[in-house]
Amino acid sequence: MSQYLDLREKIDDLKIEEAAEIIKNGGIVIFPTETVYGIGANGLDSNAVEKIYTAKEREHNKPLILLVSDKKMLDQIAENISNIEMKLIEAFWPGPLTIILKRKSTVPDIVTAGSETVGVRMTSGEIARKLIEKCNFPITAPSANVAGRPSGTSVADIFEELNDKVDCIIDGGDSKVGIESTVIRVIDGIPHILRLGEITPEQIKEVTGTVMVEANDNQQKQYAPNSECILVYSEDEKQMIDKIKEIALKHPKVTILSSQEHAEIYKKITNLVINIGSIKDLNEVSKNIFSALRQADKEKSDVVIIEGVKQEGIGLAIMNRLIKACGNNYIEI
Ligand code: TXA
Ligand code: MG
Repeated sequence: MSQYLDLREKIDDLKIEEAAEIIKNGGIVIFPTETVYGIGANGLDSNAVEKIYTAKEREHNKPLILLVSDKKMLDQIAENISNIEMKLIEAFWPGPLTIILKRKSTVPDIVTAGSETVGVRMTSGEIARKLIEKCNFPITAPSANVAGRPSGTSVADIFEELNDKVDCIIDGGDSKVGIESTVIRVIDGIPHILRLGEITPEQIKEVTGTVMVEANDNQQKQYAPNSECILVYSEDEKQMIDKIKEIALKHPKVTILSSQEHAEIYKKITNLVINIGSIKDLNEVSKNIFSALRQADKEKSDVVIIEGVKQEGIGLAIMNRLIKACGNNYIEI
């Protein structure tokens, strides 16, 4: 059993101090950020960081990111920051942008998976910022989930999965963004997006003039429900609905992740319809998507069918996560 600190109603500095003490003593703490929940440990202490790999059942070849509470803290972990990297930092921090920078030797190999770079982010989440400030060193922030599972966006979603594996859980309510940060690496002066997030390629381009998106190259299965999962999208709503109905009717037990607008239509063919929010507000969909995937998993259907969204703005990142969840089982009409 971990210690549970409830900060949903009010941010209580004394409770944050308790959590900071746990981290200072080498423990690990689940805490909210604006994107998704993270698991924090002292990012400069290999023994503490090792506990995170164990809790997440994560392969050691996948590096962790570090969170800082202000730009000054960057000096502890990164060096040779270029003008373009600085421009990105100025434009998007605090916020959901992780930048891959040249690491200092203070950063243990276990954080970077042996690489000479380190991923860094200044979160805008108030609880997280205060927690790091009180620690006065960068803390790790991989998403709070067992490897391969959807990232945790509420404590209820991850409590069973992680409660026994961490020392403390800070509850800050539902995550504001709902999907993980945009990850960027500047190579030869050009920003490469390694993971899509709320900060879009267009926004990056506005700041730097160029951008390359590599995030779709590596579509290994992640976030996936145990049932077969199919993603369907068409700009033509009627075609999309017809296709989803056609697939649904072939299976006895079907869960459909549907936009609010179409939920009533699907309820006529299955009682397992999960509302992912309005297509007119993709920020709402992004907030709901990981929770919806977890809920779908619990239904243990023969198939989970997901309505896709338009790939623009944050829709790009939503579809990126959904295509992964479906293991590339994606029908675009
Ligand atoms: O929004 C987020 O970034 C959340 C919150 C909790 O901060 N964290 C998160 O961490 O999503 P994680 O570990 O689930 O994902 C970090 C991503 C991984 O895809 C990892 O491969 C990449 O960042 N990454 C970390 N360090 C890297 C490095 N040195 N070079 C390239 N990619 C790196
Ligand atoms: Mg993750």
